[in-house]
Amino acid sequence: MTEWQKSTWRNKPRVQMPDYTDAAALNAVEAQLTQYPPLVFAGEARRLKHELAAASRGEAFLLQGGDCAESFDQFSANGIRDTFKVMLQMAMILTFGAKVPVVKVGRMAGQFAKPRSAPTETVDGVELPSYRGDIINDLAFTPEARIPDPNKMLQAYTQAAATLNLLRAFSTGGYADVHQVHSWTLGFTESEKAARFRDMANRISDTLDFMKAAGVDSDGTSALKTVSFYTSHESLLLEYEEALTRMDSTSGKWLAGSGHMIWIGDRTRQPDGAHVEFARGVMNPIGLKCGPTTTAEDLKVLMPKLNPENEAGKLTLIARFGAGTVAEHLPPLIKAVQEEGANVVWSCDPMHGNTIKSSTGYKTRPFDSVLREVQEFFGIHAAEGTIPGGVHFEMTGQDVTECTGGVHAVTDEDLSARYHTACDPRLNASQSLELAFLVAEELTKRREAHAQQATA
Ligand code: PEP
Ligand code: CO
Repeated sequence: MTEWQKSTWRNKPRVQMPDYTDAAALNAVEAQLTQYPPLVFAGEARRLKHELAAASRGEAFLLQGGDCAESFDQFSANGIRDTFKVMLQMAMILTFGAKVPVVKVGRMAGQFAKPRSAPTETVDGVELPSYRGDIINDLAFTPEARIPDPNKMLQAYTQAAATLNLLRAFSTGGYADVHQVHSWTLGFTESEKAARFRDMANRISDTLDFMKAAGVDSDGTSALKTVSFYTSHESLLLEYEEALTRMDSTSGKWLAGSGHMIWIGDRTRQPDGAHVEFARGVMNPIGLKCGPTTTAEDLKVLMPKLNPENEAGKLTLIARFGAGTVAEHLPPLIKAVQEEGANVVWSCDPMHGNTIKSSTGYKTRPFDSVLREVQEFFGIHAAEGTIPGGVHFEMTGQDVTECTGGVHAVTDEDLSARYHTACDPRLNASQSLELAFLVAEELTKRREAHAQQATA
């Protein structure tokens, strides 16, 4: 392999990236971003890797979630707060099920660039280039809006910096106190429809009361008052990624300064392509989406490239096959990992293989398919004796109507009411919590099965 530099991706075939027409404008933006401070720091990426290493051993569990695509238009403090809040609630429910720490990673503060299934889209006989995320072009359906504009990278950087600033404040400023987080969840389980989750919520209440009585309280214990929260996004727009890549002065290693964790999408994982080339040289934890066309041979080539030292926590394989097909696709990949003795975190993205068109014309995902894929993922890992290390959701804290189903049953007809996503349909706050309770049940089952094995 030739020596890696932050720019060596430029010598490799690239897909899903825009062709900027104004080279001078592009160069100016890259030069400016290169001067800007990185958004995240090497020590944070190292800490996340350490926490993910625990997830690879079953001693922690990864919760990764957030928007499909962050949007310039919908950017607001309340939006960030609400997603952060639901993720904390989910993490608490999952912690209770798994009895291990939950590693919280937002699809936030940088999740702007989108791969698309087709280069153009046609509406009423008019064909235009596809929307590729707010960091590249604009969602409006006009020829001008769809021209890639490098200056959008600067706006994305600014929004990411402001988002991260708020997330850092929420994480340590009292907002993340366990008692507060739990009181929100109790509100959810008060509804008749969510009654089946009340028992678990009450047990969490009892635990918190007990801890308080025993003198373990958030007044004196920062572990109950503050959280670690990390950011992640798809590393798709490589000019942006390269410009924010910095050398860590303590280790001499390169850090993608755009977010703590970056991932490679299902459409850009060509072993000799630009995206793999960029990701292989940075010290950040890397995610790799594995879809129905990912083969065992692909993995055997990609794993040593992306994790040459076979570090635990470095590589997360994010399985996204679609409900009903996990039993076909996952076992061969698990076998490839075992044959190579590779250290990976296995995570489940039950969103991207379950997108359908509703009868009312909206792109949607049925809650039942999402849940079923998660259950299949847990089932296969139980059968193979391997570790389900995490989940990856497209979700928001807002009360949107984008995915169908859930306890407050969103129907095909409801989708038009609050369909706000710039790209794929997200779980709303109530659907996200419901899913967390159901995943917690899977984690509890897994833990009990292990305990039984241990005593048998
Ligand atoms: C995504 O995570 O938004 C995405 C496009 O996923 P995938 O690459 O798995 O299709
Ligand atoms: Co998506």
